Amino acid sequence: MIPSGLQRRRHQYRAHGAHHTRRSALQGLLRALEAIEPETMNHSSRVRRFSLLLAETLGLDDRQLRQLSVAANFHDIGKIQVPSTILNKPEKLTDDEFRLVKEHPEHGVRILTPLIDDPAILNAVRTHHERVDGTGYPNGLKGYQIPLFARVIAIADSFDAMTSWRPYREAMNQPEALDEIRREAGTQFDPLLVEAFLEAVARNNAQETLALR
Ligand SMILES: [Fe+2]
Repeated sequence: MIPSGLQRRRHQYRAHGAHHTRRSALQGLLRALEAIEPETMNHSSRVRRFSLLLAETLGLDDRQLRQLSVAANFHDIGKIQVPSTILNKPEKLTDDEFRLVKEHPEHGVRILTPLIDDPAILNAVRTHHERVDGTGYPNGLKGYQIPLFARVIAIADSFDAMTSWRPYREAMNQPEALDEIRREAGTQFDPLLVEAFLEAVARNNAQETLALR
């Protein structure tokens, strides 16, 4: 049966309303993250900027850039479910504590599933701690089994983590962090994306990349 104009408008209105509600809920989630874990919130927005800097060299279309942007923004949202005392612990984590930290990608997917119905975004959140040599978590995926967005976020995430101060160590400077990323090409990171990231940072120049922080 062909819907009448009124039915069509009602449907569009509901679809628009649902979209609007989901957007507001996502913004609310970011506010919650900001309140509970301000450093994770700041880290996420820097990871988003570094991910997009890398992505500029990959020729992604606008839709893919939007997906990557959302995935990077929410990649650590699951940390809301990990006790802050563990996230901010200055000493080495015990095995049990580390096990709890390692659950955050899957917590993230559970939190986001009612709000985001795009599998590409959810998969990126789930797999952002996988390593190309297969020793990452949660599933020990290897190489191109790891989705592109997650391989991008992994580099941006580590670069930001290394150049940020942590309760248990000083921040590395940018050349040291880039050396470390170069060393992990082929083990932790996709080597082609490492090249692209180094190129993007060089092109963007040191000053501006630091200003992205
Ligand atoms: Fe993470």
